[in-house]
Amino acid sequence: MVKQTIILGRRPDFSSLDIGEALSTVFTTTLSYQNSTQSTLPIDLFAAIHALKQELNAVILAHYYQDPDIQDIADYIGDSLGLAQQAASTTADVIVFAGVHFMAETAQILNPHKLVLLPDLNAGCSLADSCPPKEFAQFKAAHPNHIVVSYVNCTAEIKAMSDIICTSSNAVKLVQQIPADQPIIFAPDRNLGRYVMEQTGREMVLWQGSCMVHETFSEKKIVQLQIQHPNAEVIAHPECEPAVLRHAHYIGSTTALLNYSKSSASSIFIVATEPGIIHQMEKYAPEKIFIPAPPMNQCACNECPHMRLNTLEKLYLAMRDRSPEITLPEAIRLAALKPIQRMLEMS
Ligand code: 13P
Ligand code: SF4
Repeated sequence: MVKQTIILGRRPDFSSLDIGEALSTVFTTTLSYQNSTQSTLPIDLFAAIHALKQELNAVILAHYYQDPDIQDIADYIGDSLGLAQQAASTTADVIVFAGVHFMAETAQILNPHKLVLLPDLNAGCSLADSCPPKEFAQFKAAHPNHIVVSYVNCTAEIKAMSDIICTSSNAVKLVQQIPADQPIIFAPDRNLGRYVMEQTGREMVLWQGSCMVHETFSEKKIVQLQIQHPNAEVIAHPECEPAVLRHAHYIGSTTALLNYSKSSASSIFIVATEPGIIHQMEKYAPEKIFIPAPPMNQCACNECPHMRLNTLEKLYLAMRDRSPEITLPEAIRLAALKPIQRMLEMS
């Protein structure tokens, strides 16, 4: 029996095996798991995950920022709005959420009687973390008569203190539906909030949160890329800083960016969002060139360290072990459900 030790989160290296050896061997991989217990992995993770999907009556929902192999096995790939809509309508018994904690939490809020699994419980979000509930409660109290519109990238506790949840797909549309004389707090992303203010002409009080991925794109390097590729279009997510957005030919949620890359006549794009989305862009238009916008540090691209904690191996283990499961206190869940339902109705 061939055995290989791997650290969870890294893909096993099968390159040293020839095909015959791999096929004829009952192959298991020894895995150092989070809790240090030893676990075995099947050689064909895709087949094993498909089998578990049938056994559990599970659906795999994946965000565009997931690793390509996770995207390839998902039943649905989408942005935050699309994923919330899928979670609201699924008939599966088990939701395997390949995304970050607040996304799986949203799925659980919508599905109290389903098992919601997140492959890595540590897959958090710097933006959600930038809005702690205690401080936000004080902020809200300091702005009486304001209604709270919160970006879905926040914890269930913040959702429970909100009137309407929005995503980057529908933030402008939802704010436009709020009566003009109604003061608004927008949380937690100041960049999306600023963008919505520009698009709607509405003043809003902004919580000063931000995303560690979208805030670190380098304007200077993007401009250098534009000089090298004068025909390139810059496409950017509204979580980016204004200095980056002002160079964008198109601004939108991840789904909107994907759709734009399909319909635009341009054949080269500088993509200012997490580069996981490029997997779908290249699948649809392999003849087009997609350049990930570089961050201010030395890296060439800007992957979300939270999203990328999920791996195919962890996804398999979560389904096999029915864990880690997302659970919430019922009072928080019920309070958080109302503004999410409002969003789904208003979208
Ligand atoms: P969307 O999925 O709304 O495009 O947001 C991107 C994001 O940052 C998710 O974490
Ligand atoms: Fe959070 Fe930003 Fe990562 Fe999205 S990309 S999960 S907003 S840290």
